[in-house]
Amino acid sequence: MRWRIVRLGEVSSTMDIARELAEAGRPEGTVVVARRQTRGRGRLGRGWASPEGGLWFSVLLRPRLAPADLSKLPIVASLAVARALRRLYGLPAELEWPNDVLVRGRKMCGVLVESAFSGREVLFSVVGIGVNANFGLDALPGELRGRAITLRELLGHDVDLEELLNAILSELGACYLALREGKGGELLREAERLMGFPRPLSVACCGHVFSGTALGLAEDGSLLLRLPDGAVRAFSWAEATIKKP
Ligand code: BTN
Repeated sequence: MRWRIVRLGEVSSTMDIARELAEAGRPEGTVVVARRQTRGRGRLGRGWASPEGGLWFSVLLRPRLAPADLSKLPIVASLAVARALRRLYGLPAELEWPNDVLVRGRKMCGVLVESAFSGREVLFSVVGIGVNANFGLDALPGELRGRAITLRELLGHDVDLEELLNAILSELGACYLALREGKGGELLREAERLMGFPRPLSVACCGHVFSGTALGLAEDGSLLLRLPDGAVRAFSWAEATIKKP
């Protein structure tokens, strides 16, 4: 994959800039990196705190993938980040369905995928990745501090953001190629290992909380949960989220 990197200072959200560039016809592989975001966003309409020192970027893809493979993108992107964190810093990075990268149970990175369609055909996807890197927890809103972690806090020093960006892009390129070659199942199995299944889990979806045993991932990346009555239900990342105790 040939990456074309656009570097910016303060932006509202790299998702918006990448979308504008996509609509203006920029090619697959365009990457928008910002030093800071004033209106960073996460899944399900949540905000995403993006102080200076973090790695905030969005990648433009024009995926020619079957729908089941397209819906693997969030998991595949978080897998790419986990691989990079393990390789560069030897961190025991794990995944939490559908799109979080955790280290020692605390969130270090979030992934957000937004796609534009014409009918059933995908025109482009923007893969947004935010890594809590070179700042302290005090730069985050109080309510996040107990659940988040930064590279500076974990490693005791700052990291080279350029090196981290390159490592993530290299893993993402490899994963994307594998997806296009029909190896999405292998990527899901690797992601499942980093998710620690089977394990007890509660999922919030459609106004209810479902508790059971998370068994693994369906072929479209949905989470498979065995409920107390023995039934197995699939939850799609577009509508469900993991409920913390
Ligand atoms: C989540 O955990 O809910 C997803 C967070 C995604 C954050 C990244 S930071 C770069 C890109 N720009 C955004 O506004 N969001 C994504």
